Amino acid sequence: WVIWGQFSLPQGQVESCLPARIIRKALTEEKRVSTKTSAVDLVTETDHLVENLIISELRKRFPSHRFIAEEATASGAKCVLTPSPTWIIDPIDGTCNFVHRFPTVAVSIGFAVHQELEFGVIYHCTEERLYTGQRGRGAFCNGQQLRVSRETDLSKALVLTEIGPKRDPATLRLFLSNMERLLHAKAHGVRVIGSSTRCSPGPLAPRASGPADAYYQFGLHCWDLAAATVIIREAGGIVMDTSGGPLDLMSCRVVAAGTREMAMLIAQALQTIDYGRDDEN
Ligand code: IPD
Repeated sequence: WVIWGQFSLPQGQVESCLPARIIRKALTEEKRVSTKTSAVDLVTETDHLVENLIISELRKRFPSHRFIAEEATASGAKCVLTPSPTWIIDPIDGTCNFVHRFPTVAVSIGFAVHQELEFGVIYHCTEERLYTGQRGRGAFCNGQQLRVSRETDLSKALVLTEIGPKRDPATLRLFLSNMERLLHAKAHGVRVIGSSTRCSPGPLAPRASGPADAYYQFGLHCWDLAAATVIIREAGGIVMDTSGGPLDLMSCRVVAAGTREMAMLIAQALQTIDYGRDDEN
């Protein structure tokens, strides 16, 4: 994988890539933790270190390209997707997991041109799994081609979601009621694992390796969505807005599934939780 190779140490092994080595090492160490939009929206010095490393390496090679990155945005950079070639970066997805040494964290890098997603890379740091997808060229995990779950029946589905950063009573009621609606529809289970990009490729892997059938969330961001969207679509899946319409990368909400039928069933069951837009802040 050419782009990931930018960050690889000399032997070019997947497991020797630099951001993942930094994250794995820091996972076991003491961290300085700060908060961003809410008391549960966390950031550490490692998020900043990895983001700066990725941007500086890419900038050396692609000096005219633009960047949208989680921590730069939190520090006030504009989050607007223009037609220019743009890298969309989440240096550590699952920062709360990372802080608590819960080993479910990922690095996510998406790339868009003319506001169209071209390719994405998600690296699951502790399992050393590299997910890649390029528009028109398929999706892979460590080189093995990915196919989504073909399940269409919600009563046979395992569904993934994430909580999002708002914890006011009204938001929590809607979050829990959405989960309740899916459980009422007899979904086999709803799982929260603490990392949007770890969830998003959930519908991807072959059934034997433990996939989910669908994923939905309110309160995620374009850097959680960009790479995962290309990977899921290239594996044959559907990524849409929670209204059932086309995905809007900046809308802070998503439904993804292996089949359109499954995605629509979930979209129809959900009540909207308003998180505003990434490009409005
Ligand atoms: C967050 C995590 C979390 C999800 C949030 C994401 P971060 O990403 O994926 O599980 O609920 O919506 O923004 O802050 O760890 O990069």
